Amino acid sequence: MKTNSELNSGGAAMDGLDHLRDHLFAIWRGRSAIDGITPNGLWQFTPPPDDLIRQDIAPNPAAAATHLANWRDGLDSRTAPLHQAVLGALDLVHWQFAYKTSELENRFFDHYAFFELIGPTGHFRSHQCNVYFGYWGPHLFYPAHHHEAEEKYFVISGKAIFAAEGATPKELGPTDETFHASWQPHWMTTGTKAVLTLILWRGAGLGDGPILCAK
Ligand SMILES: [Fe+2]
Repeated sequence: MKTNSELNSGGAAMDGLDHLRDHLFAIWRGRSAIDGITPNGLWQFTPPPDDLIRQDIAPNPAAAATHLANWRDGLDSRTAPLHQAVLGALDLVHWQFAYKTSELENRFFDHYAFFELIGPTGHFRSHQCNVYFGYWGPHLFYPAHHHEAEEKYFVISGKAIFAAEGATPKELGPTDETFHASWQPHWMTTGTKAVLTLILWRGAGLGDGPILCAK
C-alpha cells in the first residue's frame, strides 16, 4: 500500500517530475541546507506557488538533454541532489527553445534548452510564478534579451558569466544568484563548463517569452 507521499492527488504513482517539484519545494521552503539560499533567496523573490495543477504534457526532446543526461561528475555537493532530481525527470521533460532557429546560430540549439516546470504552460500549471530549468553547454554566447517578468537566476551546476545592462558582469557558480528587473537586457557567456540553472519569474508577463534585443 502506498503512503500519501507516494501518491498524487489523482492517485497515480509519483514520477520524476513530481520528485523534482518536491525537491525544489523543500529547498524553496527552507527545509534544505543549501548554503547561500538559507535564509532563502528563492522565497524572498517569490513564495512557492500554491495553485499547482499537474498537466498532461508530452515530452519534447532536445539535443542538449543528452549532454545534460551525461553530466553526473564534478557536481557541487550542495546542489548535487537538485541536479540529480533534474536528471531524474529528463525522460518526461518537454524541452523548449524560446527562439526561432533563424534568430541564433544553429550550434546554439544543439547545446541549449530549457523547460517550464511551473507556469502557465508548465508541467505544473500555475499563475503565480514561473519556474524554469535551463541548460547551456560550453563556449556559448546567449545574446542580450529581455522580458517583462522579473527574474531570479540560481546556478545549480557549472558556471557562466552573467551580464546585465547597468551591472558589472559576474561569474556565477553553484548556489550563486542574480536578479534581472523587468525589461532589463541581460546576456550570458559560458566558458569551458556548461551551466545548469534554476530560473524564477514573478510579476507581469508570466505568459510571455523572452525577446532578443535589437542589435
Ligand atoms: Fe531572462
